[in-house]
Amino acid sequence: MMRKALLLVIALGIVVSMAAAADAAKAARTGKQVYESVCIACHGTGAAGAPKFGDTAWVEREKKEGLKELVKDAIKGERAMPPKGGCTDCSDNEIRAAVQYMIDAAKKK
Ligand code: HEC
Repeated sequence: MMRKALLLVIALGIVVSMAAAADAAKAARTGKQVYESVCIACHGTGAAGAPKFGDTAWVEREKKEGLKELVKDAIKGERAMPPKGGCTDCSDNEIRAAVQYMIDAAKKK
């Protein structure tokens, strides 16, 4: 009886630490990494009317809507832009980082 309970506690501990490791791995993706693996497909070229990487259109959109609104639109999708740019395993924070990365790049120009 005790043995079973102990095994259960150990098994639970393993599951919890695995989940924590998966979270840590996800948190490691930077805005640049998300942009280069997902967003670049459209925002790199400006396909389908997407604001192009490095273009001042980003600065204008940020001025008009604010970062918070842009991130919200990127998460839920807008017109030709699919939710999260199609990156179903991207967290909201990773999307925010990618939006910030594209805005920062536009401001540097
Ligand atoms: C399949 C093509 C595609 C991909 C991939 C894509 N986007 Fe977009 N995105 C668009 C298009 C098209 C628009 C312009 C929508 C409009 O305003 O009509 C857009 C607009 C946006 C906007 C502006 C929204 C607004 O309210 O003005 C943000 C922010 C954005 N994308 C973020 C991202 C991020 C972050 C990624 C990567 C995770 C990404 N996009 C990937 C096509 C794409």
